[in-house]
Amino acid sequence: MTEGYCPKGICDGSGWLLDEETSDARPCECRAQRIQEGRRRLGTGIPKRFRGVGWDRRPVVDMNPGIVRHVKDFARKIDWNLEAGKGLWFYGDVGTGKTSLAMLVSKAAIDAGRDVAVYSVPHLLADIKATYEDGSGSSYLELFRRLASVDLLHLDDLGAEKRTEWVLEQLYSLVNERWQNQRSIVVTTNIEDRDELREQIGRRTVSRLTEICGDPLPIMGRDLRIPKSA
Ligand SMILES: Nc1ncnc2c1ncn2[C@@H]1O[C@H](COP(=O)(O)OP(=O)(O)OP(=O)(O)O)[C@@H](O)[C@H]1O
Ligand SMILES: [Mg+2]
Repeated sequence: MTEGYCPKGICDGSGWLLDEETSDARPCECRAQRIQEGRRRLGTGIPKRFRGVGWDRRPVVDMNPGIVRHVKDFARKIDWNLEAGKGLWFYGDVGTGKTSLAMLVSKAAIDAGRDVAVYSVPHLLADIKATYEDGSGSSYLELFRRLASVDLLHLDDLGAEKRTEWVLEQLYSLVNERWQNQRSIVVTTNIEDRDELREQIGRRTVSRLTEICGDPLPIMGRDLRIPKSA
């Protein structure tokens, strides 16, 4: 829905109706729909390349069957897992299929009618930074509140971000908020070594992610983007 247009043809597109006599504003019928659509827009959604992912398709069909079974069970019980604030965490080298597998979990949540925010971590940090640069404290708080409360936060490529004190603080605040409220997170990362990960994203953040997601699941193999013969 675009700003400046009321689908019900009632308000001026702002989502509010002004009583001219009392100067009181009351919500238009379109406001609830606006809020719902606003929620849906959080994150990038499932990126085009991953819209066709499937359990029986490559690259997932070629992965370790024990790990795929575990993730499939998680996806099958997605409502229960989201209510319990449980997540998953995938690590492995470049191009092994981590994001594809993680997207299947997010798709299961979306299909179950849940609010899901899919972000690569560098993109998420850029969005947060943009609200700072707006000079508008309320838009930062609004984004943070939504990121903290969405049913599933999918963080792709954790560890690919440039490490600064500000980044560490943002990651900690968000992960801590979700951990406190028992909200799910799905993570992919290229960083295998836990000490290296602690160094990159902070000990306290790694600790909380481990409680939410359990031990990281190894997704091993060759870089599937490069042909076997290369
Ligand atoms: N639906 C699909 N069908 C066929 N191949 C796919 C599909 N989705 C992804 N792939 C291929 O699988 C390979 C790796 O996938 P993916 O991006 O999930 O790896 P990754 O482990 O997340 O990599 P990185 O660590 O670089 O982020 C790529 O070659 C990609 O083109
Ligand atoms: Mg990936």
